[in-house]
Amino acid sequence: AVPLVIDTDTAQDDCVALLVGLLDPAADLRAITMVAGNVGFDQQVRNAFMTLNVSGTGAGVPVYLGCRRPLVRPWVSAEDVHGDGSGGLAMDQGGLAPEAEHAVDALVRMAAESPGELSVVAIGPLTNIAAAVVKDPGFAANVKSLFIMGGSNNGRGNITAAAEFNFYVDPEAAKAVFAAGFDITVVPWDPLTLRQAVFGQERLDEIAALDTPLSRFFTRICAATLEFDRRVGIDGTTHPDSLTAAVLLHPELVLRASRYHVDVETAGELTRGYSAMSWGVHGLEPNARVVEEIDAEAFYALVRGVLAGETAP
Ligand code: BDR
Ligand code: CA
Repeated sequence: AVPLVIDTDTAQDDCVALLVGLLDPAADLRAITMVAGNVGFDQQVRNAFMTLNVSGTGAGVPVYLGCRRPLVRPWVSAEDVHGDGSGGLAMDQGGLAPEAEHAVDALVRMAAESPGELSVVAIGPLTNIAAAVVKDPGFAANVKSLFIMGGSNNGRGNITAAAEFNFYVDPEAAKAVFAAGFDITVVPWDPLTLRQAVFGQERLDEIAALDTPLSRFFTRICAATLEFDRRVGIDGTTHPDSLTAAVLLHPELVLRASRYHVDVETAGELTRGYSAMSWGVHGLEPNARVVEEIDAEAFYALVRGVLAGETAP
């Protein structure tokens, strides 16, 4: 199984990514680290514990609390999209509590304990990852691979015309991470997520019909984003974060990927957080692999399979 840490700003699809990390036999989830992003930090922590509890894995995976705001800017939330990130579920958190160690220290420590083994799936703003690079210049080399959900591959943004949320919230962190020397794979918002990782009504009905604790959890937490997505013309729920975890665990899901030089705009008036993905013609050395096409049916089957379980691996 693949040893990994998931760094998350836990709202809807982050919860689904956690379920994949917790329950897919291909994953050896060593820790969950939390970063400021989608919704209030403490609510994100509650959402993560609710997910751990419903997954039946209980205290098996440690949760570390990380940076509570971006590196240099005030925190921006996406509560208009996500509500509280859990569809108003005030579910049992199973008495779970976070570890005392800070998430950045935990990331640095775990990567140093087994250099070249641990992968990191970063599905929120990149603040914790950038802070880990600052804290330990050896961090990037100690991490086997970094899978990032963020940016847009010359496509649309979702928080502004130019920017995807995770890069918009902490563009300085994102810029620093792309310059740090990680082995990076990017799962972008547009076109990949929007064209290939949307669950339309038929799939949502199929998931609801599973009628397991996990499928009921999924349907409930996704309700708020589904309403938002439909309002903005997306025909179903979007799954960027669970897709990012899935492509690490199942490389065969990636049908096409290209290497780009990725950099992130920190200064633009209209383009803060824009991900410039340059291909060969600009003469810049590639620093990341960007996923362009996935086996969408196999990805859906993976998520549905996880939700079909009755909890507990
Ligand atoms: C990202 O922001 C959140 O909406 C999702 O969890 C994902 O990580 C997409 O822009
Ligand atoms: Ca996220």
